[in-house]
Amino acid sequence: MPVMPLGLDPSLCFINGDWVPSTGGAHAALINPSDGSTLCDIARGTDEDIDRAVTAASEALRSEWGKATAAERGRVLAKIGHGMLQHIDELAQLEAMDVGKPLKQARADVVALARYMEFYAGACDKVHGETIPYLDGYTVYTLREPHGVTGHIIPWNYPMQIIGRSVGAALAMGNAAVLKPAEEACLTALAFAEIARAAGLPRGALNVVPGLGAEAGAALTRHSGVNHVSFTGSVGVGKLIQETTARNVVPVTLELGGKSPQLVFDDADIDAALPFLVNAGVQNAGQTCSAASRILVQRGAYDRVVAEMGKRYDAFRVGPAMDDLDVGPLISARQKAIVEGYLAQGDGLEVAGRGKIVANAPSGGAYVAPVLYAGVCPDHVLAQEEIFGPVQVIIPFETEQEALEIANGTQYGLVAAVWSQNGGRQMRLAKQLRAGQVFLNNYGAGGGVELPFGGTGLSGHGREKGFEALYGFSTLKTIAAYHM
Ligand code: NAI
Ligand code: MG
Repeated sequence: MPVMPLGLDPSLCFINGDWVPSTGGAHAALINPSDGSTLCDIARGTDEDIDRAVTAASEALRSEWGKATAAERGRVLAKIGHGMLQHIDELAQLEAMDVGKPLKQARADVVALARYMEFYAGACDKVHGETIPYLDGYTVYTLREPHGVTGHIIPWNYPMQIIGRSVGAALAMGNAAVLKPAEEACLTALAFAEIARAAGLPRGALNVVPGLGAEAGAALTRHSGVNHVSFTGSVGVGKLIQETTARNVVPVTLELGGKSPQLVFDDADIDAALPFLVNAGVQNAGQTCSAASRILVQRGAYDRVVAEMGKRYDAFRVGPAMDDLDVGPLISARQKAIVEGYLAQGDGLEVAGRGKIVANAPSGGAYVAPVLYAGVCPDHVLAQEEIFGPVQVIIPFETEQEALEIANGTQYGLVAAVWSQNGGRQMRLAKQLRAGQVFLNNYGAGGGVELPFGGTGLSGHGREKGFEALYGFSTLKTIAAYHM
């Protein structure tokens, strides 16, 4: 049983500012992926729990939270961010235990969540409308208003970062939130709620109902009292949520992962590129929506990049999250089986490097040694489908045009990078790459709270992060006053 910050009981839901048991009384086991043991039981939220949470959120909008000024909202968000940093050690340990990520990554995630709170704290009172010149005798202006009750369904890979970008931006615009964390990892979502309560967030502004996707998750997306849904997770569930929310004609933001490429040209600074090339593949054991799982390399640089990346892969050590090695376990035995299924399809491919699982890694852990494949055809299944594990493919190319076609040749479009010293090429490709973010001579898998982020194609739609997210979490009202 992990030690929860602030003496929290992880088996409860957070509804209307109180810690309460689920009405169904059922629980689900939370598994530690580093050894397969049960960490604790979490609530298995029901339709009724979701209904209570949505009701509390809509009441909050009619009372203290709804009446708070933008500056007051900002002050609370800043306090939440500060509270996260005050508890950084406990939170990082919780996240490492729950998700299996090495401690240093878990710490970085706490800092990222705090940064989101700081960013949105400062942004609350800086979103304003416009005045619009119109007919004689009119004054026309626009107001940015909250949607109302927002539903947030988040995955297990970066719980804290995704709470920051999703719940943080929603609260900043004056929405109330109901958060359904993933059944595989929800401890930091609960800790976030307690820290927000202690920071003075009014009751009902944030509610957290843990539970299964098909139960609490589905109940949240179909609830008629929910006015906006943001979802991060698989393509299949994203499609389902878009269908469900369509029945209530509710806007939805979908962030569904990708098959993001980094393009390395002969003229690139290869030494500068190498750490970005490999880290963007194995960070968080490859369970990153914006992982750069495809590395496209021009012929002149190809042998060197394959050899250097392979060397780094061979040096990767995989082990328990608390040992804080390069790579931790995957989230679950199920995710491990999915990734191993993909690795079986790599039989016959050239393996350019492979990490090692440390000898003392518990046998019940969901460990997969990172694998780097080279000489892969762009249409191979490992070069097309999101694996969500520590696996990268290197694809050779000859010309800029060929690189562009390969890069744009999947159904996804989340992030891309170009490594080249040629300014014209950088600009051409930045325009032509099908992606929501393009990095030139760097790569920021998930990084940068200030940077608008989101995809196209199967990667989803809508933009989170940065100032842009505040437009997504609000609706525009036009007011035309006639005063002749
Ligand atoms: P998932 O899409 O099933 O789970 C994500 C969240 O959706 C969880 O909170 C889950 O409880 C909820 N959910 C599941 N079914 C739902 C439903 N019917 N209605 C409402 N909410 C529902 O993803 P899963 O199964 O955990 O991972 C499978 C694959 O999804 C991964 O291998 C990866 O390819 C992709 N994925 C992508 C992520 C990203 O960051 N874009 C994050 C997690 C998974
Ligand atoms: Mg877990």
